[in-house]
This record gives sequence, structure tokens and C-alpha cells, in this order.
Amino acid sequence: VSAAGWTPDDLGDLTGTTFVVTGANSGLGFESARMLAAHGARVVLACRDAGKAGAAVSAIREELPYADVQARVLDLADLASIAAFAAGLSAGDGAIGSLDALVNNAGVMAIPRRTTADGFEMQLGTNHLGHFALTGRLLPLLRRRPGARVVTVSSGAHRFGRIRFDDLHGEHRYSPWRAYGQSKLANLLFAFELARRAQAAGLDLVSVAAHPGYAATNLQSVAPRMRNSRVMLAGAAIANRLAAQSAAAGAIPILYAAAGAGVENGAYYGPDGLFEQRGRHPKRVGASAAARDPEAARRLWEVSEQLTGVRYELAPG
Ligand SMILES: NC(=O)c1ccc[n+]([C@@H]2O[C@H](COP(=O)([O-])OP(=O)(O)OC[C@H]3O[C@@H](n4cnc5c(N)ncnc54)[C@H](OP(=O)(O)O)[C@@H]3O)[C@@H](O)[C@H]2O)c1
Repeated sequence: VSAAGWTPDDLGDLTGTTFVVTGANSGLGFESARMLAAHGARVVLACRDAGKAGAAVSAIREELPYADVQARVLDLADLASIAAFAAGLSAGDGAIGSLDALVNNAGVMAIPRRTTADGFEMQLGTNHLGHFALTGRLLPLLRRRPGARVVTVSSGAHRFGRIRFDDLHGEHRYSPWRAYGQSKLANLLFAFELARRAQAAGLDLVSVAAHPGYAATNLQSVAPRMRNSRVMLAGAAIANRLAAQSAAAGAIPILYAAAGAGVENGAYYGPDGLFEQRGRHPKRVGASAAARDPEAARRLWEVSEQLTGVRYELAPG
């Protein structure tokens, strides 16, 4: 089965495979983890809050008593936490040995300006730089599985994004939506650049992007809560009720990208319905010219290496 007509039922038997899903305690990440586990995969729920992660694991086990799911703490807004997470997965008690797919899903949207533990603007820091560092650190585990996948979750919002190389962290000028657009464009530039670099190095790794359309999750309420705005919170809730699809439906392109058949290196998948806002099946979707700019992708890669201190070992062997 290729993307057309694909549903999560087509995931088949995933016994013996291992997935890491970031931000898996909520929304799309939770639904993705739940569905992968339902099909027999071992799933690591990588979440910043141990309590929420544990609750998510309990919720999955309640529905699927034999689910092979585990919670681990990962704060993408802290490079030390990312390093510790990767080290814990790679060695010692509970090490996972190899990784079939990493789903770079966690994210924050349109929040007031904040900085990460390392001083990065929070949206770029969490959505892009954190996942850049994480992917680089988990590469040795991914390399143990030929055809392993890295799925990076972007958004239609990448279309209004620009990478402000002269003010990446919004120190001179900050707008919550500009910063979100920048981070989601960065997600695509990263996914496509990783695909190119893996291919150039002859490495059997599949890097793809996915977006969920518009799905009702916690994403829309985080910024209103930070602003303590009941009006914005109510507005987000109403919009979600009227216009959004479910988180389970939003997870379909992500699940396809992570474990579907016929997924191609460098592709971008979204929902097949009207304006890619909703859909029952995944389909290959287009990206803005800015997202397809190889020079910007190379530059962002270099900046990301410098900022995170993580370098990718892509040469085979
Ligand atoms: N929902 C949509 O319509 C939509 C549309 C386009 C793209 N997306 C993308 O989909 C992805 C998932 O979002 P969602 O809609 O499922 O939202 P969500 O329900 O708010 O889930 C986001 C997840 O990311 C986690 N997270 C945030 N900051 C983190 C950090 N520093 N370290 C680790 N985890 C962190 C959150 O943890 P906490 O629970 O602890 O906050 C939560 O688990 C995001 O990348 C978003 O940009 C969503």
C-alpha cells in the first residue's frame, strides 16, 4: 500500500521494531505512540515532564495491557537533557540497541519570547535545534537499522516562515508567529538536508517530513495560558471545536511517514483533504520555495551544528 488510501490499519505487525516519539504525552505524539504500540512496536515516549509521561504510558497500557511502552524524560529546550536522554537510550540498563524510527514531533507554537536553557529562542530551540541535536545523538542507534527513518513534524505555517540568519533568536525583533514560522521552516530545511546528506554519504537512512493539517490538541492553548488570556483560550477552544480534525486523524501522515510502505527519502507528507487541513489518508505534499532552498539548508545545518555542538557522522561503516 502506498500513501493513497493508506490508514493506520495498514501499519501491520510492528513487533520487533522500536520507535522514539518526542512530545508523546499529548496530541499528535500521544496518538502516534498509541497507534504504533497497538501494532506491536516498542515505543519510547520522550517527554519533558515525567508525571505527564507516566500518565500517558498508563493511559496506553489501560487500553492495550500488553503494550511495550516506556516513558523517558527529554527536555528539548536543554542540550544537557538531550545528551542525557541519548546516553540513556544508547548504553547501560534499558538501552534499546537500535532504533527503527525517530519521530521529531514535540513543539510549541506562537508563544511569548522565552529562551531555552542554552539561551536559544524557545520555538527555534525546541522545535528545530533540540531535534537537530537529538537526531545527531541518536544517529548511531538509527544506523544499526538499514532504512531507519527520521520523521520531522512541520506545518503549513512553514509557508510564512523566513530564516532570519541575522537575528535567529529574535533578539532585535520578535513576533510569536514569525518565530513559529521560522521554526517550522527550519524543520523542513533540516528534514530535506538530512535526506540529501544521507544519500550523498550512501547511508541507508530515510529522512522525511510530515504535517498533520489542523488538529485539535494542546498546541493552541499553550500560548494563551502563558499569557493568562481567557479570551484567547476560549477562542482557541472554539476554533478547535469548529474547524479542527481529531488528533488521531492528524497523526495519520506522521504514522505513514514513520512506518508506512513506499515512503521515499526527502518526501513530505500531509493530509489528503481540502487545503491539506484534514484528511483520512496521507499524501505527498509540496513545500515553499524557501523550504527547498539547498543553500539555506546548508547554512542552517552549519549554524545548528555550531549552536548545539552536535556533529553528524554520516559516512558509512
Ligand atoms: N495541532 C495542529 O494543528 C498542528 C498543525 C501543524 C503542525 N503541528 C505540529 O505538531 C507537533 C505536535 O503538536 P501537537 O499539536 O500535538 O501539540 P501538543 O498537544 O501541545 O503537544 C506538543 C508536545 O510537545 C511537547 N513539548 C513542548 N516543549 C517541549 C520540550 N521543551 N521538550 C520536550 N517536549 C516538549 C509537549 O509537552 P508538554 O505537554 O509537557 O507541554 C507536548 O507533549 C508540533 O511540532 C506542532 O508544530 C500541529
